[in-house]
Amino acid sequence: MTPPDVPPVSVAMCDLSGMSWQAPSLAREFTTQRLACWGLDDAVDDARMIVSELTTNAVRHGGDGPLTVSLTAHAILPALLLSVTDRGRPGGPLRALHPDEDAETGRGLAMVEALAALWSWTHTGRTTTVWAVLPLSPLPADTRTA
Ligand SMILES: Nc1ncnc2c1ncn2[C@@H]1O[C@H](COP(=O)(O)OP(=O)(O)O)[C@@H](O)[C@H]1O
Ligand SMILES: [Mg+2]
Repeated sequence: MTPPDVPPVSVAMCDLSGMSWQAPSLAREFTTQRLACWGLDDAVDDARMIVSELTTNAVRHGGDGPLTVSLTAHAILPALLLSVTDRGRPGGPLRALHPDEDAETGRGLAMVEALAALWSWTHTGRTTTVWAVLPLSPLPADTRTA
């Protein structure tokens, strides 16, 4: 029996604390490099877009504290979990907005909602994590049944 060469779960985290407005571009670069390492090039465009919006929100709405981007690829589901954690406290439940056509802001979570199979957020005592799940292409059949 040949085991699949993709590990069942791969995790990568990137600490962008103190990076302020450089954080979104660093998060995009981190995402591109990691997904390329994992052979998930097909997911790069959507994953970059989601991570970019979540990181922008963490900088903009989450305050100046620690900021962490986390990518988890589940080969068995198969899906990619993208999450960004900050130390802010949301003013209320997070939801996608529906701004006027000429509004310059308010489209980030709507974009995440459009691209992701699922997204939500969690606020613990000290941190807020906004996460999204992107489906991945299934592993080849011979890998799944090996
Ligand atoms: N990390 C976060 N912490 C606190 N509030 C957030 C966070 N992310 C999003 N929000 C809230 O959700 C709203 C919608 O986010 P978004 O659609 O990206 O629009 P925008 O960032 O342009 O206001 C924000 O205006 C903000 O109130
Ligand atoms: Mg936003």
